[in-house]
This record gives sequence, C-alpha cells and structure tokens, in this order.
Amino acid sequence: MGQKNSNANLKKAKTGKNDEFYTQLPDIERELGHYKEHFKDKVVFCNCDDPRVSNFFHYFSYNFEHLGLKKLITTCYKNQEINLFSQNNSEKAIYLEYVGDKNKNRVPDLSEIGIKHLKSDGDFRSKECVELLKEADIVVTNPPFSLFREYVAQLIESDKKFIIIGHQNAITYKEIFKLIKENKIWLGYGFKGGAAHFINSHYEDYASAGDHKEGMIRVSGVNWFTNLEINKRHEDLILYKKYYGNENEYPKYENYNAININKTKDIPMDYEGAMGVPITFMDKYNPDQFKIIALGIVGSIDFLNNRKMEILDKEGQPAGKFTFNAKGTLYRKYNPKTDKTPAFKDCENGDLYSSIYARIIIKNKKI
Ligand SMILES: C[S@@+](CC[C@H](N)C(=O)[O-])C[C@H]1O[C@@H](n2cnc3c(N)ncnc32)[C@H](O)[C@@H]1O
Repeated sequence: MGQKNSNANLKKAKTGKNDEFYTQLPDIERELGHYKEHFKDKVVFCNCDDPRVSNFFHYFSYNFEHLGLKKLITTCYKNQEINLFSQNNSEKAIYLEYVGDKNKNRVPDLSEIGIKHLKSDGDFRSKECVELLKEADIVVTNPPFSLFREYVAQLIESDKKFIIIGHQNAITYKEIFKLIKENKIWLGYGFKGGAAHFINSHYEDYASAGDHKEGMIRVSGVNWFTNLEINKRHEDLILYKKYYGNENEYPKYENYNAININKTKDIPMDYEGAMGVPITFMDKYNPDQFKIIALGIVGSIDFLNNRKMEILDKEGQPAGKFTFNAKGTLYRKYNPKTDKTPAFKDCENGDLYSSIYARIIIKNKKI
C-alpha cells in the first residue's frame, strides 16, 4: 500500500473511531420515556445499530409490548476500517426484524428475532437501507456525528419522524439551522448536565484523563434532536431580568443591531428588539415565545459595516494577520472591566474589540 493510500485509510479509520461511541441504556430510557405515546402501532428503525451491542435495540425489544410497537428494524454497518476500532467484530452487515414476544416468555429471544445478512455494507444511504427506511415510521438512534448533515437530510427528505443524538454544534451548521428556524427540528430533553458518557473501548487514547472513566468517554454539548411533539417545547422560559435600566449589561454589537446576551437565563423580559443568545438557548426554545431570526455569522445576517481589523493573540498583541468583521462573526467593543484581552484592533481608528462565540439572533414574540 502506498504512503498516500495508507494515510487516507488511517484518516478514514480515525474518523470511524470518532463515530464508535455507544449510547448507554439509562440515557436512552431517560429520553425516550417522554415520547411513549408516539410509539403505539409504529415501526421503529434503528439504522446505525448492531443489535449485538446497541442499547437502542435492547430498549425497543424489551419495551416492545409496553410501547405497543408494530415492528422493530435494526441495521448494522460493516466497514472494514471502522470496525478495526469497533466493539462489534462481526463478519458481515446484518439486519434484524422483531415483531414482539410471540412465545410469551417475556424476553426477546433468538427464535423470535429474524437476523438476516445485508448484501451491502449497511450504510444508511445504501439502497437496501433506504428501502427499510420507507417502511419505518420513527427512526431512533445515535448516528455517526461525522455524517450528521447527510443523515438528517435523508430523514427530512423521506419525511420521517425521528429522535436522534447529535452534538449541539450541529445547530450552527447551515443546513441544520435552516431546519431549526423553520421549526422542522428541535432539541429533545437532553443528557444529565448537558454531557453524555458514551461507551468506547478506546477511551484511554481518545480522551483526556478528566473526560474518561473505565470504558466511557464524556462528551459535552451532546443533545437529542427530534421532530416529534414534546411538552418541553411549549413551556415558556421564565424571564426575570430587565433591559431598561440595565443597558450596560447588554452591549450592542458593532456590526449588527442587536444586544448581546451571554447566558440564556439573562434574556431580559422587556427588550423588543433583536437579541444575540448562545446556541444553548435552543434547549429552552419555545416557538410561541421566541422567533428565531438568523445565525450571527456571515452569510446568515447582513453586517452593518465591514471593518478591517488586525487579529490580536491571547496576550492582546498583534498577530500580524488581518480580518474583516471579526472573522465573519458578531463583535462588540472591548470592555477592560469584563474581558481579559481584546481579540481585534480596528485598522482605521485603533478601537479594540472582543469577539463573540456563536450566537443565534432571536426576538421575543410576546412583547
Ligand atoms: C455514534 S455510534 C452509535 C452506535 C449506536 N447507535 C449506539 O448509540 O450505541 C455510530 C454508529 O454508526 C455506524 N456508522 C458509521 N457510518 C455509518 C453509515 N454510513 N451508515 C450506517 N451506520 C454507520 C458506526 O459504525 C457506529 O456504530
């Protein structure tokens, strides 16, 4: 194998390894408990799940009667590079259909589970898997994060209901944000403390000491994404702060007419204009209370100005590189009382600016 080829394979394998995070049963139980009424008489499809290791398969097969399911279908992906790192060491991609505890022994057993081999590798985009998808009502899984855009696009195109795990950063992907804005996808109830512990056998070389414990890797910012109705989505966020009288707490951006808010809980109750909130706001979003306007980045909003700035390093010293509009994001004046160091210096007038991490622009609908 040439050097180029082996590097490409290594890269592929590493990406695959990043995708080999297995979801714990208690996390699945905690989330899916909120969706019970949606499952009655439905065909559930877990299309990134080896039934021998997937707790999604475990959950749905053991709760089949309790949920009143019609059918459970599971497909498993078999890619050689990826499975070097995988916990499943099967020879072939398989798929499985389960229609319930027919022999009434109260557990799903092998005689009731139809295990079949797939002709191809079980890729969720493959013809066979797409055919199975057509049969499904609700797709539930933890798909590979590296293919999240494509994965969601397929679900939307095929008009399926879903409950899937993803990283909150996906909110800022252009394609995903569009769906969020159009109220076609929203966040579920979430993981304890906003972080998931995934089962992963490579936890030692893959996570820093603070982020792993025996067989498990902690990943922060992980959430559930769904398009099924849940009560949470209709609960108002209780607002207790006021903008008027506290304007200093909410500086306006230099390049967009909106106030900056650093923590969702600090959204003022009395501000009628546009507000830039952190992406974690999506966890509290109720479409009857707020309207989503845009993402605070180039391409999503029109900036008021286009100032040339010198980029400053961590010590606030010139880095010798230049940018426009703080690398295409929102920015505000540097405040020496609250900000460690400025991030940008205006090339024309020498003003110092602080950058703002990803923001969603919203408006309160009830004012
Ligand atoms: C994050 S893991 C989650 C596994 C399982 N759903 C769970 O939660 O325990 C993602 C899984 O998707 C599989 N996968 C990777 N690429 C895939 C593809 N193109 N089609 C289907 N599955 C894929 C990986 O092998 C991996 O097992």
